[in-house]
Amino acid sequence: MSNHTNRREFLKKIGLSVLSFPAFNFGCTLSNFLKEGDGKVALVYGTKYGSTMETSIWMAEGMNRMVDVIDIEKADVKRLTREYDSYVFGSGIWKAGIHKELKSFLQSRSSLLDGRVLASFVVCGSRGEDESSRKRISRYLDQINSRLRSQPPLSQHFGGRLTVEKLTPEDRKALEKFYRVYLRKELESWNYMDKEKALSFGEEMDTVSSSQTVVPPEETVRAEAPSDGSGSCLKRSSEAEPSSLAAEGGRCFAL
Ligand SMILES: Cc1cc2nc3c(=O)[nH]c(=O)nc-3n(C[C@H](O)[C@H](O)[C@H](O)COP(=O)(O)O)c2cc1C
Repeated sequence: MSNHTNRREFLKKIGLSVLSFPAFNFGCTLSNFLKEGDGKVALVYGTKYGSTMETSIWMAEGMNRMVDVIDIEKADVKRLTREYDSYVFGSGIWKAGIHKELKSFLQSRSSLLDGRVLASFVVCGSRGEDESSRKRISRYLDQINSRLRSQPPLSQHFGGRLTVEKLTPEDRKALEKFYRVYLRKELESWNYMDKEKALSFGEEMDTVSSSQTVVPPEETVRAEAPSDGSGSCLKRSSEAEPSSLAAEGGRCFAL
């Protein structure tokens, strides 16, 4: 049996019960006691409905490094920038945007994070099945990567989950309208989460080092606002007013 399988079995046995611990708040150290690594990793995620947190935990389970899994909304920012050697950043996608606090964190700490980011990822409804969906996903990832001075060696997207009964009234209303107008069907729950893909991405992280970051050429400076006209869209109408939605032709969200 491989080391990873042993670790997974062990983690299964302890049931990843950390999930329900209040101490999970700052970050659960899943693996401090399990392995030697070349520095401690902070896997920092932004979630609203939990699928990005679950994906992050699976990823950490796949990694053979010391890793803390940290909710950006509950993070002690000073500790976060002081205590870790490498970082992984991930966010759910809502109305074509990443988590606001993650965005601010990346923006304000970009020099400190330089050369220390192993990977970035997004969890979303777009699945990369066609060219326009892949472009959309690439724009989501860019919302993390463009805030880093150099590009992380790994970036990936994961399928998320939508549970209609759990949506806030505001989100439900917006999505109902989006489904009706653009998808021409009733809003429905779905689940595209993929544990194996997350575990493999975690394993892949063991093969890279943050020093493998790539400084993008000047002309590759990324624009956050999408510009191709494909698909239908559920989009934030302004940063300052995240609750106001605009369904526009072309670009952001297609299921
Ligand atoms: C209000 C709302 C807006 C969303 N907008 C998008 C979007 O623009 N693009 C997309 O690919 N997925 C979109 N999704 C799907 C989410 O990315 C997916 O549900 C993801 O799993 C959410 O992550 P979380 O569970 O960590 O909050 C949206 C979901 C909600 C609830």
